[in-house]
Amino acid sequence: MAIDNKRNRVCPVGLASPLEASIRRWLQDPRKILSPFVKEGMTVLDIGCGPGFFSIDLAGMVGRTGKVISADLQDGMLRKLSTRIRGTELEARIHLVKCERDTINVSQTIDFGLAFWMVHEVPDKLGFFQQIKAIMNDQARILMVEPTLFHVSRKEFEATTSLAEDAGFVVSQGPRLLLSWSAVLGNA
Ligand SMILES: C[S@@+](CC[C@H](N)C(=O)[O-])C[C@H]1O[C@@H](n2cnc3c(N)ncnc32)[C@H](O)[C@@H]1O
Repeated sequence: MAIDNKRNRVCPVGLASPLEASIRRWLQDPRKILSPFVKEGMTVLDIGCGPGFFSIDLAGMVGRTGKVISADLQDGMLRKLSTRIRGTELEARIHLVKCERDTINVSQTIDFGLAFWMVHEVPDKLGFFQQIKAIMNDQARILMVEPTLFHVSRKEFEATTSLAEDAGFVVSQGPRLLLSWSAVLGNA
């Protein structure tokens, strides 16, 4: 069921700069966060990729034989990422996908998925989890990270992980990350 409220507000493209700020690498080092999950040659999904803070490192980690599907609701975010990778070797490795609010628009099977600071913006979380589950291979895992400060309470995060369970995921504790809740979603 879609629940639209102020917590579902989508992060505007005009506020994307802090997501790309170099200081963020100190606070949330993408390689450190993602290395337990991502190997060379994988096909990975960065859902709600924004301007691509994690997509760029993911593309480096999966290497020439891997693929990153960077998906976002907003053309403006995808344009920012497209501009960053244009003319680089990452352009061939990062595939941009425009989502709809309740449709991820990705059908390719994935080995890993990242949903960083985005699930609280999705109105129909159960439908979202079901769509993600449908494209995962048996061993695939999803790292879901949600922001604490002024965004998602513990109770809300627990409600979100319950919805992931309703979609058929087995939920386990994710890594400890600054100002964030995290969980790993896997297949039963
Ligand atoms: C706060 S930003 C986080 C961006 C990125 N994950 C990061 O950590 O830098 C949330 C992003 O999720 C996207 N988003 C929100 N709802 C979405 C949906 N239903 N499907 C796909 N992307 C969505 C927004 O457009 C925005 O770019």
